[in-house]
Amino acid sequence: MRTIEWKDGTVITVDQTKLPGEMSFLKMKDCRQVASAIKNMRIRGAPLIGVAAAYGLALTAHHSKAVEKRELMKRIEQSAEILRKTRPTAANLFWAVDRVVKRALETLGSAKTVAKAIVDEAQRMADEDVQANRKIGGHGAKLIDDGDTVLTHCNAGRLATVDYGTALGVVRAAWEQGKQIRVIATETRPKLQGARLTAYELKRDGIQVTLITDGMVGYVMSKRLVNKVVVGADRIVQDAVVNKIGTYPIAVLAHEHGVPFYVAAPTSTFDLTHSSRDVIVEERSPEEVTHFCSQRIAPRETKVLNPAFDVTPMKYVTAIICETGVLSPTELKGLATFERA
Ligand code: MRU
Repeated sequence: MRTIEWKDGTVITVDQTKLPGEMSFLKMKDCRQVASAIKNMRIRGAPLIGVAAAYGLALTAHHSKAVEKRELMKRIEQSAEILRKTRPTAANLFWAVDRVVKRALETLGSAKTVAKAIVDEAQRMADEDVQANRKIGGHGAKLIDDGDTVLTHCNAGRLATVDYGTALGVVRAAWEQGKQIRVIATETRPKLQGARLTAYELKRDGIQVTLITDGMVGYVMSKRLVNKVVVGADRIVQDAVVNKIGTYPIAVLAHEHGVPFYVAAPTSTFDLTHSSRDVIVEERSPEEVTHFCSQRIAPRETKVLNPAFDVTPMKYVTAIICETGVLSPTELKGLATFERA
Protein backbone atom coordinates (compact mmCIF):
# COMPACT_ATOMS: atom_id res chain seq x y z
CA MET A 1 0.00 0.00 0.00
CA ARG A 2 1.05 3.63 -0.58
CA THR A 3 1.73 5.78 2.50
CA ILE A 4 -1.29 7.88 1.56
CA GLU A 5 -4.35 7.01 -0.51
CA TRP A 6 -7.68 8.50 -1.58
CA LYS A 7 -10.65 6.16 -1.29
CA ASP A 8 -14.21 7.35 -2.02
CA GLY A 9 -13.93 10.71 -0.29
CA THR A 10 -11.64 9.50 2.51
CA VAL A 11 -7.89 10.01 2.84
CA ILE A 12 -6.14 7.04 4.42
CA THR A 13 -2.60 7.35 5.68
CA VAL A 14 -0.13 5.64 7.99
CA ASP A 15 0.02 7.20 11.48
CA GLN A 16 3.79 7.70 11.69
CA THR A 17 3.78 8.50 15.39
CA LYS A 18 2.80 4.87 16.13
CA LEU A 19 5.69 3.24 14.25
CA PRO A 20 7.59 1.00 14.64
CA GLY A 21 5.39 -0.55 17.33
CA GLU A 22 2.11 -0.44 15.47
CA MET A 23 1.05 0.01 11.85
CA SER A 24 -2.16 1.94 12.23
CA PHE A 25 -4.02 4.07 9.72
CA LEU A 26 -5.70 7.46 9.97
CA LYS A 27 -8.95 7.85 8.04
CA MET A 28 -9.71 11.51 7.35
CA LYS A 29 -12.81 13.07 5.81
CA ASP A 30 -12.08 16.70 6.59
CA CYS A 31 -9.23 19.06 5.68
CA ARG A 32 -8.85 20.13 9.34
CA GLN A 33 -8.01 16.54 10.25
CA VAL A 34 -5.31 16.51 7.58
CA ALA A 35 -3.92 19.84 8.84
CA SER A 36 -3.83 18.58 12.40
CA ALA A 37 -2.12 15.32 11.33
CA ILE A 38 0.57 17.36 9.54
CA LYS A 39 1.06 19.63 12.57
CA ASN A 40 1.32 16.66 14.97
CA MET A 41 3.66 14.85 12.57
CA ARG A 42 1.36 11.86 12.13
CA ILE A 43 1.98 12.84 8.51
CA ARG A 44 5.54 14.03 7.92
CA GLY A 45 8.32 14.24 5.33
CA ALA A 46 8.27 17.06 2.78
CA PRO A 47 6.85 15.20 -0.28
CA LEU A 48 4.20 13.43 1.80
CA ILE A 49 3.17 16.68 3.49
CA GLY A 50 2.70 18.20 0.01
CA VAL A 51 0.50 15.40 -1.30
CA ALA A 52 -1.45 15.24 1.98
CA ALA A 53 -2.19 18.97 1.69
CA ALA A 54 -3.45 18.44 -1.87
CA TYR A 55 -5.68 15.63 -0.62
CA GLY A 56 -6.87 17.90 2.22
CA LEU A 57 -8.12 20.38 -0.39
CA ALA A 58 -9.64 17.47 -2.31
CA LEU A 59 -11.62 16.54 0.83
CA THR A 60 -12.95 20.10 1.13
CA ALA A 61 -13.93 20.07 -2.54
CA HIS A 62 -15.44 16.59 -2.56
CA HIS A 63 -17.63 17.11 0.53
CA SER A 64 -18.67 20.67 -0.27
CA LYS A 65 -22.37 21.35 -0.85
CA ALA A 66 -21.53 24.43 -2.94
CA VAL A 67 -23.41 24.82 -6.22
CA GLU A 68 -21.48 27.75 -7.65
CA LYS A 69 -17.76 27.85 -8.20
CA ARG A 70 -17.44 31.12 -6.24
CA GLU A 71 -18.86 29.45 -3.12
CA LEU A 72 -16.54 26.47 -3.47
CA MET A 73 -13.50 28.70 -3.98
CA LYS A 74 -14.24 30.44 -0.68
CA ARG A 75 -14.08 27.09 1.13
CA ILE A 76 -10.94 26.09 -0.76
CA GLU A 77 -9.17 29.34 0.15
CA GLN A 78 -10.11 28.82 3.83
CA SER A 79 -8.74 25.28 3.78
CA ALA A 80 -5.62 26.45 1.94
CA GLU A 81 -4.96 29.00 4.71
CA ILE A 82 -5.34 26.35 7.43
CA LEU A 83 -2.91 24.06 5.62
CA ARG A 84 -0.34 26.81 4.99
CA LYS A 85 -0.16 27.44 8.74
CA THR A 86 0.71 23.85 9.71
CA ARG A 87 4.48 23.72 9.13
CA PRO A 88 6.52 26.57 7.67
CA THR A 89 9.67 24.94 6.28
CA ALA A 90 8.88 22.22 3.72
CA ALA A 91 8.53 23.86 0.29
CA ASN A 92 6.31 21.02 -0.96
CA LEU A 93 3.42 22.11 1.27
CA PHE A 94 3.18 25.56 -0.33
CA TRP A 95 3.91 24.19 -3.79
CA ALA A 96 1.06 21.69 -3.46
CA VAL A 97 -1.50 24.12 -2.05
CA ASP A 98 -0.67 26.72 -4.73
CA ARG A 99 -0.87 24.12 -7.50
CA VAL A 100 -4.30 22.85 -6.45
CA VAL A 101 -5.71 26.37 -5.96
CA LYS A 102 -4.38 27.37 -9.39
CA ARG A 103 -5.96 24.30 -10.99
CA ALA A 104 -9.29 25.15 -9.33
CA LEU A 105 -9.15 28.78 -10.47
CA GLU A 106 -8.37 27.73 -14.03
CA THR A 107 -11.23 25.23 -14.20
CA LEU A 108 -14.42 26.64 -15.69
CA GLY A 109 -17.88 25.39 -14.77
CA SER A 110 -19.98 24.48 -11.75
CA ALA A 111 -18.72 23.74 -8.25
CA LYS A 112 -19.09 20.05 -9.06
CA THR A 113 -16.84 20.32 -12.13
CA VAL A 114 -14.22 22.28 -10.17
CA ALA A 115 -14.38 19.83 -7.24
CA LYS A 116 -13.71 16.95 -9.61
CA ALA A 117 -10.75 18.83 -11.12
CA ILE A 118 -9.32 19.34 -7.61
CA VAL A 119 -9.62 15.66 -6.68
CA ASP A 120 -8.06 14.65 -10.01
CA GLU A 121 -5.18 17.09 -9.48
CA ALA A 122 -4.45 15.69 -6.02
CA GLN A 123 -4.47 12.15 -7.42
CA ARG A 124 -2.12 13.24 -10.21
CA MET A 125 0.26 14.76 -7.68
CA ALA A 126 0.33 11.52 -5.70
CA ASP A 127 1.13 9.54 -8.87
CA GLU A 128 3.77 12.04 -9.92
CA ASP A 129 5.46 11.77 -6.54
CA VAL A 130 5.92 8.02 -6.97
CA GLN A 131 7.22 8.47 -10.53
CA ALA A 132 9.64 11.21 -9.41
CA ASN A 133 11.00 9.05 -6.60
CA ARG A 134 11.58 6.11 -8.94
CA LYS A 135 13.48 8.42 -11.31
CA ILE A 136 15.49 9.87 -8.41
CA GLY A 137 16.31 6.29 -7.42
CA GLY A 138 17.46 5.48 -10.96
CA HIS A 139 19.70 8.55 -11.26
CA GLY A 140 21.04 8.23 -7.74
CA ALA A 141 21.81 4.51 -7.92
CA LYS A 142 24.49 5.30 -10.56
CA LEU A 143 26.39 7.16 -7.82
CA ILE A 144 26.37 4.20 -5.45
CA ASP A 145 28.98 1.45 -5.81
CA ASP A 146 28.71 -2.20 -4.90
CA GLY A 147 29.88 -2.60 -1.31
CA ASP A 148 29.21 1.03 -0.30
CA THR A 149 28.06 2.05 3.15
CA VAL A 150 25.65 4.97 2.87
CA LEU A 151 24.90 7.26 5.79
CA THR A 152 21.46 8.84 5.91
CA HIS A 153 19.76 11.17 8.36
CA CYS A 154 16.12 11.43 9.43
CA ASN A 155 13.67 9.53 7.22
CA ALA A 156 13.54 10.29 3.53
CA GLY A 157 11.98 6.98 2.65
CA ARG A 158 8.69 5.46 1.56
CA LEU A 159 7.07 6.85 4.73
CA ALA A 160 8.13 10.41 3.93
CA THR A 161 6.68 10.20 0.41
CA VAL A 162 3.74 8.55 -1.34
CA ASP A 163 5.98 5.56 -2.07
CA TYR A 164 9.59 4.47 -2.64
CA GLY A 165 11.32 7.46 -1.01
CA THR A 166 13.96 9.98 -2.08
CA ALA A 167 17.24 9.31 -0.23
CA LEU A 168 16.06 5.79 0.58
CA GLY A 169 14.78 5.55 -3.00
CA VAL A 170 18.42 5.88 -4.08
CA VAL A 171 19.42 3.16 -1.62
CA ARG A 172 16.50 0.96 -2.74
CA ALA A 173 17.29 1.36 -6.44
CA ALA A 174 20.96 0.47 -5.88
CA TRP A 175 19.87 -2.54 -3.83
CA GLU A 176 17.38 -3.63 -6.53
CA GLN A 177 20.26 -3.49 -9.03
CA GLY A 178 22.01 -6.11 -6.92
CA LYS A 179 24.57 -3.82 -5.28
CA GLN A 180 25.49 -5.09 -1.83
CA ILE A 181 25.15 -1.94 0.22
CA ARG A 182 24.72 -1.12 3.87
CA VAL A 183 23.15 1.86 5.52
CA ILE A 184 24.12 3.75 8.64
CA ALA A 185 21.06 5.58 9.97
CA THR A 186 21.28 8.35 12.55
CA GLU A 187 18.60 8.17 15.25
CA THR A 188 17.64 11.84 14.54
CA ARG A 189 16.86 13.56 17.83
CA PRO A 190 14.44 14.72 19.02
CA LYS A 191 11.67 12.96 17.04
CA LEU A 192 13.72 9.84 16.23
CA GLN A 193 12.65 9.48 12.61
CA GLY A 194 15.89 7.60 11.87
CA ALA A 195 15.49 5.07 14.66
CA ARG A 196 11.74 4.65 14.36
CA LEU A 197 11.14 4.94 10.62
CA THR A 198 14.34 4.54 8.57
CA ALA A 199 15.50 1.48 10.52
CA TYR A 200 11.96 0.06 10.25
CA GLU A 201 11.71 0.57 6.48
CA LEU A 202 15.14 -0.82 5.68
CA LYS A 203 14.77 -3.84 7.91
CA ARG A 204 11.45 -4.64 6.23
CA ASP A 205 13.19 -4.52 2.83
CA GLY A 206 16.06 -6.69 4.05
CA ILE A 207 18.66 -3.94 3.58
CA GLN A 208 21.38 -4.02 6.25
CA VAL A 209 21.06 -1.04 8.56
CA THR A 210 23.13 0.04 11.54
CA LEU A 211 21.68 2.63 13.88
CA ILE A 212 23.85 5.29 15.52
CA THR A 213 23.08 8.33 17.66
CA ASP A 214 23.52 11.72 15.99
CA GLY A 215 26.71 12.41 17.95
CA MET A 216 28.45 9.36 16.47
CA VAL A 217 28.71 10.68 12.91
CA GLY A 218 32.23 12.10 13.44
CA TYR A 219 33.34 8.75 14.82
CA VAL A 220 32.05 6.69 11.89
CA MET A 221 33.51 9.12 9.36
CA SER A 222 36.92 9.25 11.05
CA LYS A 223 36.97 5.43 11.11
CA ARG A 224 36.16 5.43 7.37
CA LEU A 225 33.00 3.43 7.95
CA VAL A 226 31.01 5.54 5.46
CA ASN A 227 31.54 5.95 1.69
CA LYS A 228 28.65 8.25 0.83
CA VAL A 229 26.02 10.39 2.50
CA VAL A 230 22.52 10.61 0.97
CA VAL A 231 19.88 12.74 2.66
CA GLY A 232 16.54 14.25 1.64
CA ALA A 233 15.51 17.91 1.78
CA ASP A 234 12.63 20.04 2.95
CA ARG A 235 13.51 23.06 0.85
CA ILE A 236 16.29 23.71 -1.64
CA VAL A 237 17.07 27.39 -2.13
CA GLN A 238 19.67 29.02 -4.41
CA ASP A 239 22.53 28.75 -1.94
CA ALA A 240 21.58 26.02 0.51
CA VAL A 241 19.74 22.84 1.38
CA VAL A 242 17.30 22.93 4.28
CA ASN A 243 16.79 19.57 5.94
CA LYS A 244 16.26 17.93 9.33
CA ILE A 245 18.24 19.42 12.20
CA GLY A 246 21.63 17.73 12.29
CA THR A 247 22.12 17.62 8.52
CA TYR A 248 24.53 20.58 8.48
CA PRO A 249 27.12 19.02 10.85
CA ILE A 250 26.95 15.79 8.82
CA ALA A 251 27.71 17.77 5.64
CA VAL A 252 30.65 19.57 7.28
CA LEU A 253 32.05 16.27 8.56
CA ALA A 254 31.60 14.66 5.13
CA HIS A 255 33.54 17.56 3.58
CA GLU A 256 36.31 17.22 6.16
CA HIS A 257 36.63 13.47 5.51
CA GLY A 258 36.25 13.61 1.72
CA VAL A 259 32.95 11.72 1.72
CA PRO A 260 30.50 12.72 -1.08
CA PHE A 261 27.38 14.40 0.29
CA TYR A 262 24.30 13.90 -1.92
CA VAL A 263 20.85 15.41 -1.52
CA ALA A 264 17.93 13.52 -3.09
CA ALA A 265 14.73 15.51 -3.59
CA PRO A 266 12.02 16.09 -6.20
CA THR A 267 11.82 19.47 -7.93
CA SER A 268 8.68 20.19 -5.85
CA THR A 269 11.16 20.81 -3.01
CA PHE A 270 13.03 23.47 -5.04
CA ASP A 271 12.48 27.10 -4.10
CA LEU A 272 15.05 28.70 -6.35
CA THR A 273 13.66 32.22 -6.28
CA HIS A 274 14.72 32.44 -2.62
CA SER A 275 17.97 32.13 -0.68
CA SER A 276 18.85 30.87 2.81
CA ARG A 277 18.12 34.35 4.23
CA ASP A 278 14.41 33.86 3.42
CA VAL A 279 13.99 30.43 5.00
CA ILE A 280 11.71 30.06 8.01
CA VAL A 281 13.02 27.32 10.27
CA GLU A 282 10.23 25.73 12.28
CA GLU A 283 10.67 25.91 16.07
CA ARG A 284 8.93 23.05 17.82
CA SER A 285 7.84 22.59 21.41
CA PRO A 286 10.48 22.44 24.22
CA GLU A 287 8.95 19.17 25.47
CA GLU A 288 10.43 17.40 22.45
CA VAL A 289 13.86 18.13 23.97
CA THR A 290 13.16 18.01 27.70
CA HIS A 291 11.33 14.69 27.41
CA PHE A 292 12.27 11.34 25.93
CA CYS A 293 9.41 8.94 25.15
CA SER A 294 7.12 11.06 27.39
CA GLN A 295 9.62 10.83 30.27
CA ARG A 296 11.14 14.08 31.59
CA ILE A 297 14.94 14.02 31.19
CA ALA A 298 15.83 17.66 31.95
CA PRO A 299 15.20 19.72 35.08
CA ARG A 300 11.94 21.69 35.10
CA GLU A 301 12.10 25.14 33.50
CA THR A 302 15.32 24.38 31.60
CA LYS A 303 15.63 26.79 28.70
CA VAL A 304 15.37 24.95 25.39
CA LEU A 305 16.14 25.63 21.74
CA ASN A 306 14.34 23.32 19.32
CA PRO A 307 14.76 24.22 15.64
CA ALA A 308 13.42 21.36 13.51
CA PHE A 309 15.68 22.02 10.52
CA ASP A 310 19.10 23.45 9.67
CA VAL A 311 20.61 25.05 6.60
CA THR A 312 23.54 23.47 4.75
CA PRO A 313 25.45 25.83 2.43
CA MET A 314 25.87 24.53 -1.13
CA LYS A 315 29.66 24.42 -0.77
CA TYR A 316 29.19 21.20 1.23
CA VAL A 317 26.83 19.59 -1.30
CA THR A 318 28.42 17.30 -3.90
CA ALA A 319 25.26 17.02 -6.01
CA ILE A 320 21.49 17.16 -5.93
CA ILE A 321 19.63 14.15 -7.27
CA CYS A 322 16.19 15.05 -8.61
CA GLU A 323 13.79 13.42 -11.09
CA THR A 324 15.41 15.16 -14.05
CA GLY A 325 18.93 13.97 -13.20
CA VAL A 326 21.95 14.78 -11.06
CA LEU A 327 22.71 18.49 -10.68
CA SER A 328 25.88 20.06 -9.35
CA PRO A 329 25.37 23.13 -7.10
CA THR A 330 26.64 25.24 -10.03
CA GLU A 331 24.00 23.78 -12.36
CA LEU A 332 21.39 24.48 -9.70
CA LYS A 333 22.58 28.09 -9.52
CA GLY A 334 22.08 28.27 -13.28
CA LEU A 335 18.48 27.09 -12.86
CA ALA A 336 17.95 29.70 -10.12
CA THR A 337 19.10 32.48 -12.44
CA PHE A 338 16.79 31.12 -15.13
CA GLU A 339 13.80 31.09 -12.72
CA ARG A 340 14.47 34.68 -11.62
CA ALA A 341 14.67 35.95 -15.22
O1 MRU B 1 10.15 16.94 10.52
P1 MRU B 1 10.05 15.92 9.42
O2 MRU B 1 10.10 14.51 9.90
O3 MRU B 1 8.86 16.20 8.52
O4 MRU B 1 11.35 16.17 8.57
C1 MRU B 1 11.62 15.35 7.48
C2 MRU B 1 12.94 15.59 6.86
O5 MRU B 1 13.70 16.44 7.28
C3 MRU B 1 13.25 14.81 5.63
O6 MRU B 1 14.63 14.61 5.51
C4 MRU B 1 12.76 15.57 4.39
O7 MRU B 1 11.43 15.97 4.56
C5 MRU B 1 12.88 14.77 3.16
S1 MRU B 1 11.70 13.47 3.12
C6 MRU B 1 11.74 12.74 1.59
